[in-house]
Amino acid sequence: MRLIARKPDAVLGLATGSTPLSTYTALVERAHAEALDLSEVRGFALDEYLGLQPGHPESYRAVITREVVEPLGLTAANIHTPDASPETIETAGDAYERAIIAAGGVDLQILGIGTDGHVGFNEPGSSFASLTRVKTLTEQTRRDNARYFESLDAVPMHCITQGLGTIRRARHLVLLAFGAAKAAAIAAAVEGPVTASQPGSVIQLHPHTTVLVDEDAAADLVNADYYRHAWANRPAWQQL
Ligand code: PGA
Repeated sequence: MRLIARKPDAVLGLATGSTPLSTYTALVERAHAEALDLSEVRGFALDEYLGLQPGHPESYRAVITREVVEPLGLTAANIHTPDASPETIETAGDAYERAIIAAGGVDLQILGIGTDGHVGFNEPGSSFASLTRVKTLTEQTRRDNARYFESLDAVPMHCITQGLGTIRRARHLVLLAFGAAKAAAIAAAVEGPVTASQPGSVIQLHPHTTVLVDEDAAADLVNADYYRHAWANRPAWQQL
């Protein structure tokens, strides 16, 4: 909110999935309470499925429209998702990178994390230098996301996703994770070795990352007591 108050046309990096929904709801409430106009906010989604019909309700364009653009009162034309059209897919990644750069880069990137450690749809093995490109989803990710589709077979096999290199360029990363299913991925991201096998560990290479977790998602963190101590004793000027 302070970012948007300071910069009404701030560029947000938007995650989909169930994790950020409470954050978007909180943003709506704060925007209403503070009578903040969000119509100039710009946004770039992390990823998009390949192979869904345009307008499919689980395409991330549709999800972002339904769960972010409409409730927050954003301007649809300001909000971008990677173009998954088959005719232009070979150049869609480059086009998305150019659009992000033309917008001046992402100010604040909201991230979830997959149970397999992916951020965006950067599955294990994704290069830390990767840019927006087509990826093959792991079967674990397809199973995790099958709840949104009629059957596992209906879950796309491929996606187009911002790369870890794209995500690293954002000025501030906010990684969200809730629930015990995310505990191992969070521990690997925050405390594990920096390795492409755990794409979430890319946060350790970023100068400004905030990790917001509940107790269940924090359960495997070895240094949790220190993080609580640091939070309780944070300097007055150090806000999220
Ligand atoms: P979820 O997905 O928020 O639905 O758990 C997170 C992710 O896959 O990045």
